[in-house]
Amino acid sequence: MNSTLGFDKIIVDRRELKPLKGSDKFEIINELAKRRGFFWPSFEIYGGVSGFVTFGPLGAILKRRIEDKFREFYIRPLGIFEMESSVILPAKVFEASGHVEHFKEPMVECGKCKRKFRADHLLQELAEMSDTETEKLSLEQLGRQIRKHEIRCPECRGEFSEAKQFMTMFSTTIGPYSDSVGYGRPEAAQSIFVEFKRLYENARERLPFGVVQIGHALRNEISPRQGVIRLREFTIMDIEFFFDPEESECPLLKNVENEKLRFLLAEAKLKGKKEPIEVTTRHALDKGLIKTEWQAFFMAQAKRFLMELGVPEDKQRFIEKLDWERAHYSTQGFDQEIYVDRWGWIEVSGHNYRTDYDLKQHMEFSGVDMRVFKEGRRFIPHVVEPSFGSDRLIYIAVEFALKSMEKRTVLSFPRDIVPIQIGIYPLVRKNGIPEKAKLVHQFLVKEGFLAEYDESGSIGRRYARADEVGTPLGVTIDYRTLEDDTVTIRDRDTWKQVRNKTERLPGVFHDYFRNKLNFEDLGEPVKG
Ligand code: GLY
Repeated sequence: MNSTLGFDKIIVDRRELKPLKGSDKFEIINELAKRRGFFWPSFEIYGGVSGFVTFGPLGAILKRRIEDKFREFYIRPLGIFEMESSVILPAKVFEASGHVEHFKEPMVECGKCKRKFRADHLLQELAEMSDTETEKLSLEQLGRQIRKHEIRCPECRGEFSEAKQFMTMFSTTIGPYSDSVGYGRPEAAQSIFVEFKRLYENARERLPFGVVQIGHALRNEISPRQGVIRLREFTIMDIEFFFDPEESECPLLKNVENEKLRFLLAEAKLKGKKEPIEVTTRHALDKGLIKTEWQAFFMAQAKRFLMELGVPEDKQRFIEKLDWERAHYSTQGFDQEIYVDRWGWIEVSGHNYRTDYDLKQHMEFSGVDMRVFKEGRRFIPHVVEPSFGSDRLIYIAVEFALKSMEKRTVLSFPRDIVPIQIGIYPLVRKNGIPEKAKLVHQFLVKEGFLAEYDESGSIGRRYARADEVGTPLGVTIDYRTLEDDTVTIRDRDTWKQVRNKTERLPGVFHDYFRNKLNFEDLGEPVKG
């Protein structure tokens, strides 16, 4: 306040969040994630094993919050059931599902150093072939292309062997019997199909209904080198949505029919096109680009869900799988892809029309009737499957939150996924201020907030740390608090401050985190 002039000093606030430019975001994210406890490669003290990641204190909460948001956004409005089943399943399940036969990747071995690589990935990375091109190649053709492009071992320049198939399911034995083979599930979907009869009873024998399983899945990737983006053990969120193929209308379609989706269609890919077309969900159905209404609905929801995690429309697309790219169980498949800095377009969710394939297979292999009975008809329900990888969603949420302000890194996460909602800071560590701050902290924790007390270092350093881990609000307790029980509240994204009474904090904070209030509504502005 400039009292000599008789008016408040006018602050021209030029601070704003800017996209982080110039450097490799993958490096920045990995460094920040390690340092601040989001995630890091597992088993580091033993040299690490690629494809495994540990989520630290902040990462574990961020992951849970993103999964909870998925539940809130995707699961609960549709009354989809959640189930939880084992990670190891008997071989029979995957013989029936077709995974034992199909879940394989082409591999070559270096004749000199014996390292093994994905043959198709080598061609994509070193011969600039697209995955559409490499997916189509037989083992012999892959070997021929590797020789033609004179691709040598990236580690020692040795020559590669002929390509062969490697089964990417982890196998084990169940108990002490070597003939009792089990596999680590590569998707959570199969236990939903295997348990279909009981789940259908739980659904009071009515269609449509959906079941989700969120849990670990295992894929023994040949040579994963993309950190948290390609894992051997990861969390999958598989929804299997069962419906009557003769009554396949989706009553919720009207909620999304004007949502614009960006498509790279199979036909366009074959012509080498790279630019997606943008059409509404309704149009995509009318033109037969998407075969079923439920699949269209889930795809539109997937786009919205990613927008809620901070990904703008132009960084999203759906890419249709060609016949030879689709999983063996799929009649029509789209990958939802997001454009990230280091890796370009990466898949975050798959949308497959699995028809009656899986239930039919389990009916044949188990001998148990999987048909339902409805109005005089016996039939196997059809299934559409939206399937998300939760670890990738975390990476993407971090990449799109990554901003800078005045040379400081800020993780500007959406409010509803932040690992810490409120930082509580005593201005100084004396004169009863920490004691009061601890009371405020306990008060907010009891009110259900993710609040963290921090008294270490200068207030500036504490704010900087909070910005870097994405804490949207900071509550600072100072000398005035001891007089009138008001605190300052600081905004991560503008660094503006307002002041309010401690007793009013729970009410305004609950509304703020439900996106009903803006930061400016949290109290009286603090003049600079
Ligand atoms: N169930 C989804 C997947 O296999 O990717």
